[in-house]
Amino acid sequence: MDKVNVNGEHVNELLQAQVHVWNHIFKFINSMSLQCAVDLDIPDIIHNHGKPMTITELVAALPTLHPTKACNIYRLMRILLHSGFFAQQKLSDGVDEDGYVLTDASRLLLKDNPFTLKPFLKLQLDPIFTKPWYFLGTWFQNNDCTSFETAHGKTYWDYAAHDPKLSNLFYQGTASDAEWVTSVLIEEHKGGFAGLNSLVDVGGGTGALGKAIADAFPHLDCTVFDLPHIVAGLQDSGNLTYVGGDMFEEVPAADAVLLKWILHDWNDDECVKILKRCKDAISRRGKEGGKVIIIDMVVMKNRKGKDEAFNLLETQLFIDMMMMVLVTGKERNEEEWAKLFSAAGFSGYKIFPILGLRSVIEVYP
Ligand SMILES: C[S@@+](CC[C@H](N)C(=O)[O-])C[C@H]1O[C@@H](n2cnc3c(N)ncnc32)[C@H](O)[C@@H]1O
Repeated sequence: MDKVNVNGEHVNELLQAQVHVWNHIFKFINSMSLQCAVDLDIPDIIHNHGKPMTITELVAALPTLHPTKACNIYRLMRILLHSGFFAQQKLSDGVDEDGYVLTDASRLLLKDNPFTLKPFLKLQLDPIFTKPWYFLGTWFQNNDCTSFETAHGKTYWDYAAHDPKLSNLFYQGTASDAEWVTSVLIEEHKGGFAGLNSLVDVGGGTGALGKAIADAFPHLDCTVFDLPHIVAGLQDSGNLTYVGGDMFEEVPAADAVLLKWILHDWNDDECVKILKRCKDAISRRGKEGGKVIIIDMVVMKNRKGKDEAFNLLETQLFIDMMMMVLVTGKERNEEEWAKLFSAAGFSGYKIFPILGLRSVIEVYP
């Protein structure tokens, strides 16, 4: 029978509640432990070892490890085993010792993996990005647009325009995402590009995705459109052209407009303005079958059970909060997306849930 304490509360339930609160207080330790392992190059060291690596071998292979800290490496590895970044395997038949091996998750942190998330991790956990979280409560009580502004005294966009470190971190952090997205687009969504002669990647940054699409679809005239200081000095090549400008003013004419990770940066009014400029860009080209191709999240419905979908939703909600903290944007559910498209004068849309946390959304004029 469940024990009851002096206040009449069920002890087991209270203990479970305490675990829940403590777990959430300390959740940041997962991120910071992972960052530490990446800073120490542990995934690459284990990968290069080529077979399960014992703790002694790992400690010996860490070139900058201070000898007094060697006894603590197993503790770092223990939490990362628990969180699924490493696993343990028997060294070989008949040998009763385990060695560390990578998992699918830590393979995504290898520096030479074309889909590496290592620069993305470095970007998201940089103090420029984490500092605003300490100001979130203050932001709820002041008039600033974002908690980023409360923390740094300027908006994210102003900061990025004047700080090459942030700008570099950002474009390195998102470059591997272009590889990832292009491979999925080419394999799973090739038909979406059929019949198009031109495409403009609005907010396309330094062109990682634009270049990959231009290579994959040589018949397509691709334009990477971004703020003038972002595209300044970038060289056109083959079917790829760079154009500087402001998407709130005008978007270069094209059969299709790509918006990857753009609309989640902006509030609803700002998104409607951007979408209207995109619609103008398609109608100036006047081709049948024109469309806007959005790559962003469609937030799932709330769920109770702790299954795979629960983790997916939690990650979507993390990123929604991040959009609130850094910029004026948000992650949207299908209903919210549909409202934006209709307010910008589009006739229909179709969601292709082919990108895990994110989807491809085609929007038709
Ligand atoms: C979140 S990033 C996405 C970059 C890229 N599409 C990707 O997925 O990695 C947003 C991009 O929008 C660009 N941007 C911001 N304001 C803009 C504006 N007014 N006109 C054009 N581009 C803009 C930024 O410079 C940045 O490259």
